[in-house]
This record gives sequence, structure tokens and C-alpha cells, in this order.
Amino acid sequence: MRKTSLSILLAASLSLGGTAVWAAPLQGVNLQSDQAFDNKIVKRIKVENIYNHIAKLSKEPRVAGTPAEAAAVEYIKKQFETFGYDTEVQDFDIYSYTEPSKIEFSVDGMTLAPAPMGFTYGVNGAVSGELVYVGLGSPDEIKEEAVKGKIALIQRGGFSFAEKITNAAAKGAVGVIIFNNADGVINGTLGEPNESYVLALAITKVQGEALKSRLESGQAVTAAINVEGSKTEHAVSQNVVATKKATQKSTNQLVLVGAHHDSVDGAPGANDDASGTATVLELARVFANTPTDTDIRFVTFGAEENGLLGSYEFVERMTQEDYDRTVGMFQMDMVGSKDAGPLIMYTNDGEKNTVTELGAAAGARLSQTGQATPYGMEGRSDHVPFAEAGLPAALFIHAPVEPHYHSPEDTLDKISLDKLREVSTIVGAAVYQVARPDTPALENAKVAPKAVDYNFEERELE
Ligand code: BES
Ligand code: ZN
Repeated sequence: MRKTSLSILLAASLSLGGTAVWAAPLQGVNLQSDQAFDNKIVKRIKVENIYNHIAKLSKEPRVAGTPAEAAAVEYIKKQFETFGYDTEVQDFDIYSYTEPSKIEFSVDGMTLAPAPMGFTYGVNGAVSGELVYVGLGSPDEIKEEAVKGKIALIQRGGFSFAEKITNAAAKGAVGVIIFNNADGVINGTLGEPNESYVLALAITKVQGEALKSRLESGQAVTAAINVEGSKTEHAVSQNVVATKKATQKSTNQLVLVGAHHDSVDGAPGANDDASGTATVLELARVFANTPTDTDIRFVTFGAEENGLLGSYEFVERMTQEDYDRTVGMFQMDMVGSKDAGPLIMYTNDGEKNTVTELGAAAGARLSQTGQATPYGMEGRSDHVPFAEAGLPAALFIHAPVEPHYHSPEDTLDKISLDKLREVSTIVGAAVYQVARPDTPALENAKVAPKAVDYNFEERELE
């Protein structure tokens, strides 16, 4: 992973004993002038544009790797180009998995209830053989002479399901049964396909412990596994990236503004996350003709719903130079539902950072309530890979989220112009506070957002 530099400095300058302490003398920056600067962005945001982008994007679900995602990517790219941006499309591989149509497992001819589960990216096949208990399934625990041609019984825990399976396969096991270490069934994934997997199923703790004690008492136990109909398909998803270069005495700093353009199967994703994508597009339009001393990169991510794959890919491809000059990442996900709660900023670690400072200050100036935007702790969106890489990042979202999230009901008619207006102005103004040319680079902490009080909230999400 990359080295942390600027972000650590910024984080250190941000908090002393938990209180935001941007350097005190604000050098002529006052509320009135901040508001005058806000207006340069805010007055130009046309919320109808955001709504119209959502209308275009949410005609059908945009599942990663499907032609519908590709059409959304094409639309987003065209829009960026219309605003005058050079646009990069980042392709990356993803996999889609079809669940097995049949899963059979029997022990000495008897079936189990509840029925065993497969793993996402697990393989098809039919094997039978003696069961051998091998603990957690580390390479040391699995002896080739004990498992060769047999089925390994492994306890959950310690390391991944995929490692347990490849460890057993490497010693010649023909199948693997993993039992839970807590109550309930395992609904597990192997993360990605791998040619060295052998047939594998998951059973409950009670079932696994019963088998283990039979083996430990010296009984031979024979199991048979049959899995049919699963399918792993290869597909390509994409990120769309547009960069606004600084137009005046550049500070050489970079701000990232993102959203995910994909949706889940069956959901038109008007709010999740055509709303964020459309807001990225409108901010890109407004900033295209705005003088800045900071580079701004607008990104829409693919395959967020498959596990934040697009944003992980983006972070992976970031150059060290761009990483070092990144001030923060603003992620917008589900920012327009009339049925959701008020705005909140989530960080992955529940700590304030540069992005939340900027967002809270902008919220105090621009929110409907006049209150600084609160923050909380949550992952679940594309800010996570940035945070994990050590960059200040936050998710702008409304909580609690609307009840029809991830459903066919996530449609245009649920979109609120007021919600879109609030988020787009707050994020736009926060970004502009860094990017506007009258302010020195953020490390100097002179432009720093006015230290506003804003609170941690543990709000119900769903
Ligand atoms: N927009 C959601 C994130 C979300 C939903 C945050 C509800 C908070 C409350 C996002 O698109 C999503 O569905 N994320 C996945 C996790 C991801 C790692 C696949 C989720 O929350 O299940
Ligand atoms: Zn989302």
C-alpha cells in the first residue's frame, strides 16, 4: 500500500484533543466573504440538471458489467466531454456468479437440515470420500497422507474460506466442508474465482461439531457432495474520470469528488446512486468554468455494488504523486430521496477529517437548518478504499435511508429537488473552499474552514 504523507499532516493539524483547531488567524477569511465565495458556485448549480441526469440514468438498472452500465458510462463520458473535460475511462475485470441450481450433501447416506450452503465463486462437481477433520485448515494442520483423495472438515475462523479451500486442495483433498464457529448458516464468498478450488460447502456449527466428535471418537464417516449449475462469468466494469486542472498559480493539490454509477439487479437506482452521479456531473459543469488553484478530479465508479471494486481499482491505479497531493475525497451516495432522513457525513473510522471539516463548515453556511452537518461512522460506499489507503474521505448520504433502497421502487418519482439542492451546494462550496484561487494551499491551514462545532451522531441507518 501507499505511503501516507499529506493526509497525516492534515489530520495532525486538524485535531488536538478531539477538537478541530485549524490555525486561528483566518487571515481575512470571514463568514461574509465565505458566503460570497460560496455564491460563485452555489448560484450556478441548476438542480434541474441534476434531476434530468437522474431521469436519463435511472430508466433501467445499471448492473456492473452489463450493457446498461456501459450505456451509463457512455452518457457520463459524453456529459464530461460536453463540459470540456478530457475524460479517462478505466476498464477493470469483474466476475458475476450464478448460484448453483442443485446442492446435495449426505453423510453416510443421510441428508442434513438445514441444508448446506455453497460459497460465491465455488465450483460445481460431484465427489465422495471419507471425512477428515483438519482444524482451521492451515497448511500445518493439513497432512497430505491424511487428506489425499478425501474430504476435509474445517472450522471457520482465523483466515479466509478461500485459503482454507486452497490449503486443502494443495494437499490433495477432493472436497471441503467448512462449519460455522457461531450460530446460523454461513453465507460466504471466496472473493474471486480460482482454478485451484475444490468442491466446498458450508454447514452449521452444530452439524460440524457433531461430525467432528464422531471422527474424534474413531468412527469413519463418509460424505458425498454434489453441486450443479453454478456459473462464474467474466465481465468488464468501468470508472469514468474527468480532471479539472488548476487555472491559476496552482497549489498542486488535488480534490476528488465521486459517486458510483452502477446499481443492483432489479433496481433502477434513481437514488442509489444516479443521484450522486448526477450531482458529480452538475458540479463538474459548474467547476469547468470556475478559476481554481487546485486540481479537481470528478469520478464515477463502477461495480460499487459488487464490493467497491471500482473505487479499489481507482486507488490502486493512483500514482504516488497524485496520492501525495490529494487533500480529500468527497463521496456522494444516495443524496436525493424525499423519503430519507437529513444529511450526514460518514467516515470509515468515525473520526473527523479534512473532508468533514470542510463539509461541516459549508453545511453551517448553507444547510436548510443553518446547522453544521453532523458526522458519523459508516463504510459501505466508495469512500472506504480511500480511507483505507490513508486519505481523508467521507460519504455524504441521508440517514435513515429510504425504505425502498435496493428495490424496484428506487425510482425518479422519489427524488427531492430540495435534497439535491442541499447536498450539491454543500459539497460544491466545500470543494470550492479548497480550490478557490484566493486561498493558499491547505497544508498551511490558513484557508482552513472556520472551525465549526459539529457533532458525532449514531443515527439509525435502515
Ligand atoms: N448506497 C449503498 C450504501 C448504503 C446503504 C450506506 C444503506 C448506508 C445505508 C451502497 O451502494 C451499498 O449498497 N453498499 C453495500 C456494501 C458494498 C460494500 C457492496 C451495502 O451496504 O450492502
Ligand atoms: Zn450506493
